[in-house]
Amino acid sequence: MKIGVVGTGYVGLVTGACFADSGNDVICVDIDEKKVERMRNGEVPIYEPGLNRVFDRSIRENRLRFTTNLEEAFKEADVLFLCLPTPPGADGQADLSFVLKVADDLGELFNRFPGYRVIVNKSTVPVGTADKVREAIAAKTDAEFDVVSNPEFLREGAAVEDFMKPERVVIGTSSPRAAEVMTTLYEPFVRSGNPIITMDERSSELTKYAANAMLATKITFMNEIANICERVGADVDNVRRGIGTDSRIGKRFLFAGIGYGGSCFPKDVQAIHHTAGELGYDFRILDSVMKVNETQKVSIVEKMKVFYNGDLAGKTVGIWGLSFKPETDDVREAPALYIADELAKLGVKMKAYDPEAIETFKASATKQALVSMEFTEDRDSVLEGIDALVICTEWNEFRRPDLERFTKKMKAPVIFDGRNLYDLKRAKEAGLTYISVGRPWVGVKEKAKV
Ligand SMILES: NC(=O)c1ccc[n+]([C@@H]2O[C@H](COP(=O)([O-])OP(=O)(O)OC[C@H]3O[C@@H](n4cnc5c(N)ncnc54)[C@H](O)[C@@H]3O)[C@@H](O)[C@H]2O)c1
Repeated sequence: MKIGVVGTGYVGLVTGACFADSGNDVICVDIDEKKVERMRNGEVPIYEPGLNRVFDRSIRENRLRFTTNLEEAFKEADVLFLCLPTPPGADGQADLSFVLKVADDLGELFNRFPGYRVIVNKSTVPVGTADKVREAIAAKTDAEFDVVSNPEFLREGAAVEDFMKPERVVIGTSSPRAAEVMTTLYEPFVRSGNPIITMDERSSELTKYAANAMLATKITFMNEIANICERVGADVDNVRRGIGTDSRIGKRFLFAGIGYGGSCFPKDVQAIHHTAGELGYDFRILDSVMKVNETQKVSIVEKMKVFYNGDLAGKTVGIWGLSFKPETDDVREAPALYIADELAKLGVKMKAYDPEAIETFKASATKQALVSMEFTEDRDSVLEGIDALVICTEWNEFRRPDLERFTKKMKAPVIFDGRNLYDLKRAKEAGLTYISVGRPWVGVKEKAKV
């Protein structure tokens, strides 16, 4: 099939490369000229495991091309995927201007290059957007087309794997013709029997928000349990194991930490909360989820204040991990951004390392944070002469360092761990002062109240 992909970010580029890998002819469009130039030169502009492999292969076989011109893709494509940004507006509402602008352009292109096409919304969009896109196109043309909702569930860091082997594909359409096109496209990815679930557009649009809101709630619930653990002297890891074995609860997404971030959960929770509010429904559970997450992101700074009796000025702190989660260079809404900003305000100097996200972090951090920070090229260089280490992201290389050896480089062996990477017994044996999330403090005589 001939496919156009509009927007080549984390979703669009993965979508384009994976469809090309399964034998389709794909042409990707982006307005970012520099990015398109880089991709034309064979460079993958984001870090995503496994993406280089499918990208290179498809380019070599001329099944994956790039352009800045929507017309070029439209002329050739039978199906056009919209993978455009839907950032939060001032009041939390999803900003649809990127999607509707392209819908407008598509209407004009239909007049110049007629023929049935399927327009697929892969962006995360509020309920009713398929109708809006349909209306925007139909306002300009009488051409035959269908608009389909096809939310994307890939996880950054495992995006290629998730796209190639999705647990489910959701297709929202009331058109049998469009449903058949979409099913044909996705069948190669669900050969092991995972379902393609077809439903109406509105349910499909809501499914994506429901999934992200549920996952954000699950994380937040566990973070609240962790906060209780710290107050009653329990260990959240034990509680996690105790409840995760209940199949009604499940083992995944139960790890306590310094809050959720990324480009999806924060904005999607806000957007569905906003939609509910507009409809006169107070989505109370999500109100709490957002409030808890705000404080959880900087909870580690609160612990540092307690540990240092409020006097952090002049300290030098190392930071391991800047991306919002491992295996990505994405720092959108990453806790590290907030922590670095808070620490800078308190007069702390920072040395930071991340395997992939230093450049994206520099582009997103506040000025105040950046003037207080230096960045190192490897994990160990962060440690020289620091008063404490803060772990913000659970990259694999941070999981099993030689604790005794590396803490010798530090002024004091103090670790604030936002991701609970180390075993408490091991931390004690290594002589660490080790303060994590929802677990007893190690090496601190009497735990202060947090
Ligand atoms: N990132 C994820 O993990 C993820 C997962 C599921 C769903 N989503 C949703 O998918 C959508 C895209 O997310 P993303 O993370 O890929 O965004 P992104 O910001 O990484 O990429 C968007 C791309 O669209 C391009 N663009 C903007 N306007 C354009 C136009 N008029 N024509 C062509 N290109 C244009 C931008 O230059 C950018 O390259 C969002 O709605 C998001 O919520 C994201």
